[in-house]
Amino acid sequence: MPKHSRAAIEVKDLIYPLFLKDGAGIREEVPSMQNIFRFSPDTVVQEVQEIARYGIKNVLLFGVSDKKDREGTSAYEKNGAVSNAVRNLKRKFPGLVVATDICLCAYTSHGHCGIIRPGENTIAHKPTLEALSRMALSLASAGADYVAPSAMAKGQVSAIRKALDAHGFKGTKIMGYSAKFASNFYGPFRDAAGSAPAFGNRSAYQLGFSDSTAAIKEIACDIKEGADIVMVKPALAYLDIIKEAKSRFRSAILAAYNVSGEYAFVKHGAQRGYWDERKMVFEIMTSIKRAGADLIITYHAKDIAQWLKKP
Ligand code: PBG
Repeated sequence: MPKHSRAAIEVKDLIYPLFLKDGAGIREEVPSMQNIFRFSPDTVVQEVQEIARYGIKNVLLFGVSDKKDREGTSAYEKNGAVSNAVRNLKRKFPGLVVATDICLCAYTSHGHCGIIRPGENTIAHKPTLEALSRMALSLASAGADYVAPSAMAKGQVSAIRKALDAHGFKGTKIMGYSAKFASNFYGPFRDAAGSAPAFGNRSAYQLGFSDSTAAIKEIACDIKEGADIVMVKPALAYLDIIKEAKSRFRSAILAAYNVSGEYAFVKHGAQRGYWDERKMVFEIMTSIKRAGADLIITYHAKDIAQWLKKP
């Protein structure tokens, strides 16, 4: 294949994120993310029907919850919005690859990604791993093909792998948010998922953005712990990390997360007429793929899939 065409984006490279909340008949736009909606487990089926028509085969589900408590217990509720959505989607679209985010930040009253004991302000490691494993088990039993731990808790991939294997879910795969930077680009997502931390920030567990050594170490670690896919997040300001990860870990499947802030940039500029949205999106996607990403998680996926159908 000629070299220059290697970075051409294809619909099979894309993973479409979807936000889920309890209830029925819901389709509400996220104020900070034009054209991205929160769905209930019934309406998400219509949305997936549409994206499946455009050829999208992979989705990543996030929960949005108003039932928050200190320990984020609704994260592993049997009939939570994400579990119910997984069941509906796998029943209706057996060939769809469904991944679910595994993190407590949308379910804890303090908005942090792990468990914080009363009177403390740091994450308690062991109970956090237990809660994440419980959440992974609950979503695996609903039928998720992949669970995607994003709490950046040390050892989360191996803890979840062990729990899955012990409970008969050897076939459930893991996509690790391996190199997840403490980034300013997550702003709109925290609005979408209602997951902004009530105090402090995530720099104790997410990576500092100047630290490329730690990023590569985290990826190596996740591969060793049994991750089936590893990820760099965000994408655009971290193309060097994507490139380095791809060259060091040739046989790993590498995903890049083109996050909410990156999406909002493009949308706002396009709306003001600063650039052509479609051309901008293709340039960005090509650069992420050219850097070495095998898969791209992006809110643009639905538009891209449609554009690819009608060039
Ligand atoms: C949960 C999580 C976040 C994102 C994905 N999973 C938010 C965060 O870490 O604050 C961000 C995705 C995006 O910005 O699109 N931990």
